[in-house]
Amino acid sequence: MTENSYDIPSYLHRDLLGIEGLTPPEISYLLDRSESFIEHNRQADKKLDILHGRTVINLFFENSTRTSTSFELAALRLGADVINMAVAQSSVRKGETLIDTAMTLNAMHPDILVVRHSESGAVKLLAEKVKCAVISGGDGSHEHPTQALLDALTIRRRRGDLSALTVAICGDVLHSRVARSNIHLLNTMGARVRLIAPRTLLPSKIEAMGVEVFHDMVEGLKDCDIVMMLRLQKERMAANFFPSAREYFHFFGLTYEKLAMTKPDALIMHPGPMNRGVEIDTEVADDYGRSVIREQVEMGVAVRMACLETLGLRNKDEAQERAP
Ligand code: NCD
Repeated sequence: MTENSYDIPSYLHRDLLGIEGLTPPEISYLLDRSESFIEHNRQADKKLDILHGRTVINLFFENSTRTSTSFELAALRLGADVINMAVAQSSVRKGETLIDTAMTLNAMHPDILVVRHSESGAVKLLAEKVKCAVISGGDGSHEHPTQALLDALTIRRRRGDLSALTVAICGDVLHSRVARSNIHLLNTMGARVRLIAPRTLLPSKIEAMGVEVFHDMVEGLKDCDIVMMLRLQKERMAANFFPSAREYFHFFGLTYEKLAMTKPDALIMHPGPMNRGVEIDTEVADDYGRSVIREQVEMGVAVRMACLETLGLRNKDEAQERAP
């Protein structure tokens, strides 16, 4: 378990800021490593010493429940020391710039920084200024790489090879970093990606990302293997993007009626948190024959362990090489 069984380092970046630009072997490597932690996480004794002595700082500038908890658990289970920096109480609230925050963090010598920020690009900026490895926990509406990896792991365990699948991503694509990371990952791994959304909730020229676009659920869901629902991100909406939640549910909410269009065994996914009765019918969400929403959360911890291990160990190896 603690041994890295790969002879050649298969993930060569210092950071994990997005899925865009990763190769199929890099993605497969992270998924394979994640796989090795799943059974381990189901045991009573979950503590490993892979990252013993390493310091992980969680820096969440934006609210998060499952992502921050999952990173914290992952780091603790690998034996790292973890600090959750409460941004609300930190000097960031007093007007400190991101660059000053980076300088402060550098002086504390963390090994890995996990960052979530409401501005697209802010995590990258911080990564350029800090000396340690950075993992993105989501930046604005840009990318959320570990969510795409955990989604891929969930799908791969249920359906095997991703390249044989048609995946429909439905809802508020415009504001969704989850959608963007999933499009990159699924395309890279050879799956077919469809987007289903009202015109107002789709970025312009999104077809250029190599997806098929639909504005009608019944058409878009036809013969899909996987249905990924997205949360309607009201907190990112400055204007009215749809008439009412009721109308939205009527046209774009996932119900059994619309689900009848997919393959009979299609899986239902949602990154959470869910707006029940808005983007997904509550019974569909809780249909554990088909809904893998709980599994996604479980896979999240394994994926974050794999990402922390990969970046943390690589730094350790480098440090050892430099040692006299
Ligand atoms: C997602 C996020 O924060 O981008 N949630 C998550 O990480 N579990 C999706 C969302 O907020 O809708």
